[in-house]
Amino acid sequence: MTWLITGGAGYIGAHVARAMAGAGERVVALDDLSTGVPTRLPEDIPLVRGSALDGDLLKRVLAEHSVTGVAHLAARKQVGESVTQPTRYYQENVSGLATLLEAVAEAGVRRFLFSSSAAVYGNPDVELITEDTPCAPVNPYGETKLAGEWLVRAAGRAHGIATVCLRYFNVAGTAAPELADTGVLNIVPMVFDRLTRGEVPRIFGDDHPTPDGTCVRDYIHVADLADAHVAAARRLTGGATGDLTVNIGRGEGVSVRELITLIGEVSGDRRPPLVEPRRPGDSPRAVASAELAARELGWTARRGVREMVESAWAGWRLHHGG
Ligand SMILES: NC(=O)c1ccc[n+]([C@@H]2O[C@H](COP(=O)([O-])OP(=O)(O)OC[C@H]3O[C@@H](n4cnc5c(N)ncnc54)[C@H](O)[C@@H]3O)[C@@H](O)[C@H]2O)c1
Repeated sequence: MTWLITGGAGYIGAHVARAMAGAGERVVALDDLSTGVPTRLPEDIPLVRGSALDGDLLKRVLAEHSVTGVAHLAARKQVGESVTQPTRYYQENVSGLATLLEAVAEAGVRRFLFSSSAAVYGNPDVELITEDTPCAPVNPYGETKLAGEWLVRAAGRAHGIATVCLRYFNVAGTAAPELADTGVLNIVPMVFDRLTRGEVPRIFGDDHPTPDGTCVRDYIHVADLADAHVAAARRLTGGATGDLTVNIGRGEGVSVRELITLIGEVSGDRRPPLVEPRRPGDSPRAVASAELAARELGWTARRGVREMVESAWAGWRLHHGG
């Protein structure tokens, strides 16, 4: 098997590429380096610099590397930007995916993994989000991921491609400091950023209907997430047909206050957070049911939140000091 990893120089893509290679698969990465960092990839994983929206390039890469499976992670992923630039998000995340699937079908590739997101669910009022929880995204980013899933499943049916859509929950941590997320878009790096600037962390609302009043989320270590891709790839190489859509989370809720307390312990900066009013649209609770992934992929997360925070902090200090 040779797997093409689009977005392979990205935060998650580089972890996936390394995990797949570590599991004995041949891997080639494609990345336009818009947010990717080429040094995240070891020298024995070839990196093609170019866009996953470029159909001719895709056809060439699929043929030249005799690709037999594709894991598609390249995407725009900023919720706020998706609200102000919806056409760009649909263009890159949906039209780009259509171009890729056409090239995949034409090249006779029969296995496809798609990076989806818990954002497809919107803000459901349930204890645990199962894959049957209705999808009602609340921003264009989530819409493009849901439309992407529809497109993946439809193309799979039409062209005999076995597909897996992985709905990632809140990804954090790093397998090694140099692979860390360099963006400041998720809560862990956002808190680190404030601490590094000498500011205390912020909590938006401590009057939500949750045990400590702060929002509860399901955090997943990026190394566990990478292992989930290996498990999904195994399912596809093992002869699975049809499609599977599955949550990738730990099935355990952690509150913002608990997370900030842990960050204080790890960083040594235990100043109390500033509580600000709730932000409109924040869901009080978003926690995955992890049962289907355990059943269908034989995969369960192994790493806890402390490991996520400690590894992310080591990565933050490497890239930002502090
Ligand atoms: N980080 C999270 O918490 C999270 C949660 C759910 C889903 N996801 C999804 O996981 C995937 C990877 O996210 P990430 O956090 O690693 O982000 P990232 O920005 O680090 O990685 C995306 C990679 O894709 C590349 N890229 C973007 N557009 C491209 C294009 N047109 N052609 C080629 N390369 C392109 C970028 O250069 C980058 O290396 C995305 O699809 C994202 O939507 C991420």
